[in-house]
Amino acid sequence: MSESTITGASAETGTSQTPEAAGKTPASSYRFDTVKVHAAYDPKEHNYAFNVPIYQTASFEMGDTARGERLFRQEELGFLYSRVGNPTVDVFERRVAALDGAVGAVALASGIAAVSHAILNLADAGDHIVASPYLYGGTHDLFKSILPRYGITVDLAKSLAPADLQALIRPTTKALFVESIANPVNVIADIEGLAKLAHDNGIPLIVDNTFATPYLVQPIQHGADVVVYSATKGLSGHGALIGGLVLEAGRFDYGNGRFPQFTDAGFTLRDRSERYRSFWEVFPETPFTARIRLALLNYFGAALGPFDAWVALLGLETLSERLDKQLANVRHLIAYLETNEHVAWVEYPSLPTHPSYALAQKYAPRGAGSIFSFGFKGTIEQQERFIDAVRLWSYQVNVGDAKSLIVNSPKTTHSELTADEQTAAALRPETVRLSVGLEDVADLIEDLEQAFAVVFGGGAATAANAAAPAAPAANAVAG
Ligand SMILES: Cc1ncc(COP(=O)(O)O)c(C=O)c1O
Repeated sequence: MSESTITGASAETGTSQTPEAAGKTPASSYRFDTVKVHAAYDPKEHNYAFNVPIYQTASFEMGDTARGERLFRQEELGFLYSRVGNPTVDVFERRVAALDGAVGAVALASGIAAVSHAILNLADAGDHIVASPYLYGGTHDLFKSILPRYGITVDLAKSLAPADLQALIRPTTKALFVESIANPVNVIADIEGLAKLAHDNGIPLIVDNTFATPYLVQPIQHGADVVVYSATKGLSGHGALIGGLVLEAGRFDYGNGRFPQFTDAGFTLRDRSERYRSFWEVFPETPFTARIRLALLNYFGAALGPFDAWVALLGLETLSERLDKQLANVRHLIAYLETNEHVAWVEYPSLPTHPSYALAQKYAPRGAGSIFSFGFKGTIEQQERFIDAVRLWSYQVNVGDAKSLIVNSPKTTHSELTADEQTAAALRPETVRLSVGLEDVADLIEDLEQAFAVVFGGGAATAANAAAPAAPAANAVAG
């Protein structure tokens, strides 16, 4: 048997593999900030190394043939080969699972691998997905141009209204896919309502929680079945790696007759008596992540490396501290932009004027993230001159970095969408997206001010107003 048929080792099953079992005290009895630095790691199990070691190894010794047999028959969970499981990656998976209230997690080499693997785990050729119209451009293009070539079709709904989604669901539909806080328009998904709609139709709800992170939105608590992340963004928070995760809530009934890939018995999972078994039988607690690991990760191979998992763990340790500061910076920036004569609109769901305000209060009460867009009042040429004129803000497609980033989304991150598709996705040509970092907000405001001055004339911000940004209006941004 080749190493490619190895057993997954991680957050699937087994006494030492659940988030609750991590560390000497159950991590789940601690609060979020404690979990994010301690969960899923016990120094005693790692030569008393206080920081999580980087297990920089491709493969693992099996010990003896008896143990090899146990591993290959799923009687014992252990590490065999880093494409499907590695101890450093495992800590990262179980720690994020603990933060999200998930029962299983698989890390992947990127956020888009997390999206594609979540879909491929549910849909085969001939199957169908219903998705939100408000999506990251790469996800949109995956749905529009790539998956159909493999026989999987995706319909984007007109809106997130239940009637618009329900109208698209057919017998071959295998999932409902949404972003909790959509990139870049910040529409907030009504996760509870969407979960009910999905479950009434016998399908799971997949939520991309990248913009929110588990600190701001907890999709599983509200009924989501699968959560995906780009760990490249705010979750790790330093723009230092590409990574992703798929998490599972552990409640969905994959035995409902609609998902033969979970219930069909297969050769790979046969037991010692050579009886074929299904994922649903062998991994009843975590069929979704077990199948991603043993079927998709095993054979498509988008594994996250241990060093990147370690970097992500380091970033994760300051998740809430970073976001608290970034949310404070967002409040100051919005107060500045809302009164700026060169700004047509500011799109941020924690603003009472935003259509998603009530949903933001319910799902993201701390604030609707560190990313928001504003409408540049002027021509596209002036908008481009403005972006070229900023000095501190970095012009790039990433988000969720410790440093502040700016981008003209319609021409970059969402350039895969036609003009009509951009309109359907509520993406206006004048949109400028900001990802707010940890700098002193006075410097950030001063930089925008001087860039507006380059385009429209007028003095740059005075030292006084740059150093002391106006306090946001009391009710400008809740949370
Ligand atoms: C919401 C969302 N999901 C997924 C992705 C893909 O993540 P990655 O770039 O890590 O592949 C992105 C990237 O921008 C994103 O914004």
